[in-house]
Amino acid sequence: MHTKMTILLFASLLLLPSLLAAASVKAQLRGHVIVANSSDSAISVLTRDTSWVNTTPTAITLYPQRSIRLSDRQANAALDHAKPLVAEVKVRYNSSELVVMVSWKDRSYSIALEHRVATFGDQIALSLPLNYPKNGVVPHIGMGDSKHPVALYLQKAVKQKNPFQQTYLARGFGSLTQTKKLSAYMTMNYDKSFGGWRALFKLPLTGKLKTVLNSGLFPISFALWNGKQHERGGNKRISSWHFIYRPEREVNQRLVKKLSYGLATPILGDVKEGEKLVKTNCTFCHRIGPYLSTPEGVAPNLSGIGGVALPAYLKESIVTPDAIVVRNLHLNRHYQKGGERDAHGAYPHNMRYKWYRKGKKGVLHSNMPSYQAILTPEQLNSVVLYLQQQK
Ligand code: HEC
Repeated sequence: MHTKMTILLFASLLLLPSLLAAASVKAQLRGHVIVANSSDSAISVLTRDTSWVNTTPTAITLYPQRSIRLSDRQANAALDHAKPLVAEVKVRYNSSELVVMVSWKDRSYSIALEHRVATFGDQIALSLPLNYPKNGVVPHIGMGDSKHPVALYLQKAVKQKNPFQQTYLARGFGSLTQTKKLSAYMTMNYDKSFGGWRALFKLPLTGKLKTVLNSGLFPISFALWNGKQHERGGNKRISSWHFIYRPEREVNQRLVKKLSYGLATPILGDVKEGEKLVKTNCTFCHRIGPYLSTPEGVAPNLSGIGGVALPAYLKESIVTPDAIVVRNLHLNRHYQKGGERDAHGAYPHNMRYKWYRKGKKGVLHSNMPSYQAILTPEQLNSVVLYLQQQK
């Protein structure tokens, strides 16, 4: 009896440091941590297996991506009324693979018909950075950026013989390249009793994502499309970066420290002051909230930025615009009609819509000025607080 107690006590003491570490990571990155569960044996790919049913889910909120508009009136009208969506995520791993299961309610069950336009299937994608973000800078949430490529795993409900499953490398919206170098086993099934989809992604712990997936803490983000609402391409719901935590591994404290801004403790600032500062400093280029005097496309639309960007990212964007340079959208839709036509008869691009310039070795430099010397730290906090509320 006594020895049993001692063993129990000893075992719980051994567990204590990892429990404390988990609590600390969760507190520092509040609301953005998905704890992965380790397994000694093979992980079932059946989503109704008791091992999955007994795994604790993490709720993730996905927000409509408002910075990208398709040239489809119906889709854009639906986007204006799109609401956030909550998905459940479960993660398990063993020595050879990491499995992510995502469940989300979708009563409107939509499957694209092969060779038929204007039918849109429900879809899901996972995004993971290709390189471990050692310096604490995570890629742009819109499928990466020139300096931070991402891996994408996509599944779509399509009526055809083989399931629609694809893997891509991307450096921002419109830069997707299909690749066979990211192998994964995927399934996507409609669960009638649940009233929604359950998708599974089994990723090997080897290959291109080896370093990322074997780290103690690494970023992951999610995208969902509702086919019934004509969602496709950039018209979708996305989550901000979340972090998969593997308790038995070392955690990169630099990453945690940098990203804990605004998550560990609320930002001390004044939203009203932030709004005023944004109105006077930013709306010449950005559309945001009620401030829509600037034409769409001069700079990224910030109206939904609070739901999809981490506070640390917002701060970084304002202080160091060059750290992450968002891929220019639709520059070729904007011409300078007064300009001189080129050999093909095309007018030059309107440079007001250009977001960056190329420097030495092709490195991109943002056309947004840094506000480091313009805003005080308190003002910067207030601006981030205001941006955070734009969901
Ligand atoms: C001269 C035009 C201009 C001004 C003024 C400007 N920006 Fe920007 N901003 C841009 C451009 C262009 C980009 C896209 C390129 C990049 O990533 O830096 C951008 C990117 C951003 C991003 C990243 C958006 C995303 O989708 O990830 C944020 C956040 C941002 N700006 C906030 C601000 C805030 C806050 C202010 C005012 C304090 C401001 N900007 C002022 C032009 C501007």
